[in-house]
Amino acid sequence: EQIEKGGYDHFMLKEIYEQPSAISDTYRGRIRVAEGIIKMAGIDDNLAKLLNAKRIIVIACGTSWHAGLVAEYIFEELVRIPVEVEYASEFRYRNPVIHQDDVVIAISQSGETADTMAAIKLAKERGAFVFGVCNVVGSSISRETHAGAYTHAGPEIGVASTKAFTTQITVLSLIALKLAERKGTISNSDFHYYLQELERVPEKVKIALESNEHIKLIADKYKDAKNFLYLGRGYNFPVALEGALKLKEISYIHAEGYPAAEMKHGPIALIDEQMPVVVIATKKGHYDKVVSNIQEIKSRKGKIIGIVTEGDETVKGLADHVIEIPETIEFLTPLLTTIPLQLLSYHIAVMLDKNVDQPRNLAKSVTVE
Ligand code: G6P
Repeated sequence: EQIEKGGYDHFMLKEIYEQPSAISDTYRGRIRVAEGIIKMAGIDDNLAKLLNAKRIIVIACGTSWHAGLVAEYIFEELVRIPVEVEYASEFRYRNPVIHQDDVVIAISQSGETADTMAAIKLAKERGAFVFGVCNVVGSSISRETHAGAYTHAGPEIGVASTKAFTTQITVLSLIALKLAERKGTISNSDFHYYLQELERVPEKVKIALESNEHIKLIADKYKDAKNFLYLGRGYNFPVALEGALKLKEISYIHAEGYPAAEMKHGPIALIDEQMPVVVIATKKGHYDKVVSNIQEIKSRKGKIIGIVTEGDETVKGLADHVIEIPETIEFLTPLLTTIPLQLLSYHIAVMLDKNVDQPRNLAKSVTVE
């Protein structure tokens, strides 16, 4: 097992550090940046079906559901197709309205999640076209869906999902870009620019990983907190949910993720000097609004950990700690803002002496209801 961990203390840490290569493995062979080409067999073979979709319904569970929420923002912005993101377990029992021109995207790392599988079968019965985004090649879901695209993240052993999440977002971004280019909902020059930016993400993830030691110090300061709040807006709202989930899963600290503006409708009541609040406050992405949310937290003496774009001075002046990430285009920021949140939960769990790779009560793949 030590050999499999490749010198890292845990699979989770190894998988966090594998993300630069996992992300490039996901798009390598599929994009030709100079020529502006995205080739994905599952998309190319079903292009008419996908381009004519009146609606996309994403079904997934857990971390994959969070990747689906990021996809909602990406697809609606780039492709202008309405998207609904559903928990598979709710969707399957709700007698959902499904039309023949709906496209269902099922996201699953393992490709074996029982609720996701049942939701796929239901959508197929009702005539929808079902597209799978799976990591495990040949998995049940990859066989059950009409077409699909693999994430190519390599095996993920840590129960808390890390590289599966970022590679799911990568694949979903590729699909959205391809459809947007075909539909003409983005300009040719934007299409080229976005592809170039995607190709720069692995290097930027490496830079984000360099904050590891700094994050360890922050983890040490807050490891005994009883609660954490995670806030983000737009593309980084699902990242806030995912950051909170990571902390819950492996450190057993209660954490809530919230859209930053929704804070005033409840969670703000929890804020006092005992409450660490992780705020994703990257430039673009409603930056000014997030800064005013930070001011509200500060005036209630909450402890602020800001995830900011490198060189940011405003949030630095307000927050107790900041963690910088490189700048990228807005829809790709989740690939970078997720990294410090993964590391923060990892270090807190290690410091609390928890079983990082196999947290209590959780399974890597939930094959029963
Ligand atoms: C379990 C795992 C999570 C995962 C979820 C969905 O709860 O512990 O990490 O996100 O299942 O799994 P899937 O394989 O369908 O993505």
